[in-house]
Order: sequence, then structure tokens, then C-alpha cells
Amino acid sequence: MSNNKNNMPYHVGIIMDGNGRWAQERGQNRSEGHKKGAETLEKIALYAKKIGIKILSLYAFSTDNFKRSQEEVDYLMNLFIKCFETKFDSLCKEGIKVVFSGREYPLKDNVLKAMHKITEKTQNNTGCILNICLNYGGQEEIVDASLKIANDINKGIIKKEDLNRDNFYNYLYQNLPPLDLLIRTGKEHRLSNFMLYQAFYAELYFVDTYFPDFLEKDLDKAIEHFQNCNRKFGNVENK
Ligand code: IPE
Ligand code: IPE
Ligand code: MG
Repeated sequence: MSNNKNNMPYHVGIIMDGNGRWAQERGQNRSEGHKKGAETLEKIALYAKKIGIKILSLYAFSTDNFKRSQEEVDYLMNLFIKCFETKFDSLCKEGIKVVFSGREYPLKDNVLKAMHKITEKTQNNTGCILNICLNYGGQEEIVDASLKIANDINKGIIKKEDLNRDNFYNYLYQNLPPLDLLIRTGKEHRLSNFMLYQAFYAELYFVDTYFPDFLEKDLDKAIEHFQNCNRKFGNVENK
């Protein structure tokens, strides 16, 4: 939607899927895939900033991922803490601003603390925005937005006739523009509850590669796909 001069996608989303299969196919524990995935995440975020992507939204953990074994959930939560407390120093230094989308409940205090810390530490960074979707669900986000809207209508902050699809964004977890390009790694072709509202005119790009193997050149390919798309937004030709 918001292309800059070079026709770079302004807001890119990645459904980082395939960590578990990456590990299992190597006879390793699923957690090894998550560990490698975190390294890929760091690399891709740095690269995205370098090539001029302004906003990168990454699906790190869905509300439904709590259905997984306690062992896997605990591993992921500890990995998140490690990333936010130390591993992502490189991102902070590169001027990346980290924000989060998702519900706080039922995340544990130590996870929330690490999230708040990196948010604070990077709040004045202006390089690009890394929106980490953690304990995130697209339907949950719409439900939560609806509750905030009902509250604002009751308080007279907004009149119901003034609500529209553009100012609805004010009520989402982060007031970010819609997705231009949505990438999913790991063979599946579905949204799995990711950014349902923001994806409305996103170009979709699916790649079989499991996320731990996703390289900078794979992001280049996705962008090239985007640059060849004819985005019409309901019109008859791209204006
Ligand atoms: C994505 O990889 C990471 C998270 C959901 C946290 P998966 O863990 O879903 O990997 P697969 O899909 O089982 O291979
Ligand atoms: C989506 O992947 C969630 C993340 C990448 C964090 P899943 O692996 O949870 O999605 P499904 O279960 O295959 O739809
Ligand atoms: Mg998966």
C-alpha cells in the first residue's frame, strides 16, 4: 500500500514457520529448530533494515501455540527472554525500534519484563520498526480492538458513525500501516491467525524453505515478487 520510490514494500510480515520440522528432519529436538530460527530472525531483521524495509512484523508465537507441550512452550519463552535481554543487542545498536503485538495474559512476568526492557531500550530508535507478534492472534486483536472501541464510544471519545476502516487501526495493538508483503516459510499456505486486519491487500508469498534456512537472498526473492505484482486495490489498474 505504502510504496516508497524504489517500490520497496513498506511493511513486510513474516510467518516464520518450519522450525520444528527443520530440527525433526535432522533427528534433533524441535527446540534446536527454534534456536536456529532465532538466529535467522536476527539476521533477517538486520538485513531488512539494511535494504530499506521500514516495518517488519514477525510472527513469533501465536495465542494457539500455547496448545503445545509445556516443554516446548517453556523453551520458547526462555529463548524469547534470552533474545530480548542480550541476543538482540545487535538490533538495538543498529537503530531498530522493537515493539510487540499480542496479549499480555498469560505470559509470565519474566517474559513481560524482558519485552518491556527491550521496548524501552529501543523506543527512541528511528532506523526501522520490528514488530514482534508474541502471544498474538489476529482474531483476538480484532476482538480486543472492538472492546476498546465500545469503551471509547461509551465514554464519548469517538462517535460510532465516525468509525471507519482507516481509524480502526488506532485500536489495534500497534497503529501500523497495512501489510504490503506477507511471507510464509515452511510449506503451508495459510494465515494461521496472523494480522487478519492488516493483511487485507497484502501480496502473499509462500516459500517451502523452513524458517531456519531462510536467507537474505530469499527475502530478496520475495521482494522481487512483490515488485512484479500489479496492486490494484479494487481498481482496474495500478495507479
Ligand atoms: C514456527 O515453527 C515457530 C513457532 C510456531 C513458535 P513451528 O514450531 O511451527 O515449526 P513446524 O511448523 O512444527 O515445523
Ligand atoms: C504460525 O505457525 C505461528 C507462528 C509462526 C508463530 P503454526 O505452526 O502455529 O501454524 P499452524 O498450526 O501450522 O497453522
Ligand atoms: Mg508450524
